[in-house]
Amino acid sequence: MKTVITFGTFDVFHSGHVNILRRSREMGDRLVVGISSDQLNFSKKGRNPVYPLRSRMNILHAIRYVDQVFVEESLDLKREYIIEHQADILVMGDDWKGKFEEFKDICEVKYLPRTPSISTTEIIEVIKDIE
Ligand code: CTP
Repeated sequence: MKTVITFGTFDVFHSGHVNILRRSREMGDRLVVGISSDQLNFSKKGRNPVYPLRSRMNILHAIRYVDQVFVEESLDLKREYIIEHQADILVMGDDWKGKFEEFKDICEVKYLPRTPSISTTEIIEVIKDIE
């Protein structure tokens, strides 16, 4: 039984999110997702998420590839989260390539290519521009 873990904000849920969740789940038997708290998202991206934590969690729970969701309160707790959830593989989008090598002592670390031409930030910009 292989457990895969991944992390993200998953705000304004889009098909790039579906793709990474599907591909992550295919790497093992069970997918656990750490979803950024609203505060963590603010500290990472300098803005509040459009959808608050409860709504983002609600959507993730409804995705068939996701077996469990927990709240990521701090970027500094990754090691603890990996151990707590007994993850065998950490999967991240390749925007994070090379950033998680330090966890190779406790799990496999894989980076998957991002889906081109879509991101939460871009969707927000497009919506802002609609007259
Ligand atoms: N992701 C992806 N392909 C995309 C967008 C996101 O594979 N086109 C992945 C990221 O690499 C990450 C996960 O989805 O592993 C969650 O990313 P998140 O930061 O929540 O989404 P983004 O759309 O990248 O958000 P933003 O534009 O705010 O950075």
